[in-house]
Formats: sequence, structure tokens, C-alpha cells
Amino acid sequence: MALLPILQYPDPRLRTRAQTVVEVTDETRQLVASMFETMYAAPGVGLSASQVDVHQRIIVVDVSKERNEPHVFINPEIEIVDGMQRLEEGCLSIPGFYEAVSRADRIRVSAMDEQGEAFSLETDGYLSVCIQHECDHLDGKLFVDYLSNLKRGRIRKKLAKLQRENRVRR
Ligand code: NI
Repeated sequence: MALLPILQYPDPRLRTRAQTVVEVTDETRQLVASMFETMYAAPGVGLSASQVDVHQRIIVVDVSKERNEPHVFINPEIEIVDGMQRLEEGCLSIPGFYEAVSRADRIRVSAMDEQGEAFSLETDGYLSVCIQHECDHLDGKLFVDYLSNLKRGRIRKKLAKLQRENRVRR
């Protein structure tokens, strides 16, 4: 396991469309373990492989308070069941910014687990939001894409300034 560097917005690599995982191997499981370590250390509630510059369709999520309900989805496919919700979202690639986004409430997600076994999960609320947010990353989409151009521009500018300041400090 290893802590992996997380790409920061507006890094263009975050716009890469991730590839389908053909076979779940030991290498996949090592990546998943490192993704969990990186997510918990950040700390965050979800992480996509795209954010650690590995462009494969893999996400990890844990929205529990005790940080003991890890979910792995390999090649996740989302089907919307019903409802809408609007919750505040953040992202480890856009640290310090939180904005409300409208998304489906109840979803069914079909995926493979770490053993390469197919499964599906029906869920709603915060876990559903988190899965949808992470799946967007696999298509190169970020939560700021749902905001107005004005809001997104402001976030981008502030982050560029912070990144410049950090570089100077180092
Ligand atoms: Ni994110």
C-alpha cells in the first residue's frame, strides 16, 4: 500500500475518460488498497482512480462516521431509480470548496468487487451522491461542472492562486 498523490483541479488529466477494467488482478487489489489508504488519510469519503492518475474504472467510497464501511466498485454502471436530492459536495481534487449539486436520489449501481465478482447495490441519500460524484470522475467530469461558469471561474482562480502560493512556500 502507498499514499498516492491526488491530482488537483484544474489539472487536465482529471478530464481523462477512464478505461474499463478487463480483469481484476493482484495489481488491481493493490491499487484499491492504496486508494483506500489515500482516501482515509486525506481524509475523504470517496476517491476515483482518475484522481490518482490511473485511468481505470475503479472507485472507492466510505461515508460511515466510523470509517469502517468501505465500498469498492470496479466498472460501475449507474441506473437511476427515482427521486432528486440536492446536497453540498466537495472533492479531494478541489480542496476547500463546497457547493450544492442536484442529483438523483435512489440509484442502482452494478459493478465488480475486488474478486472480480459482479454485484449490484441499491442505495439513496449521501452514499448515492458520493457514488454518482465518483463515477463522474471516471468520465472526466467534476462537481464544479454543475455550477455556473461564474462560480466555477471563481473557484478556479482561487485555487490557482493557492497553488502558486504553495509552490513559493516550498
Ligand atoms: Ni471528487
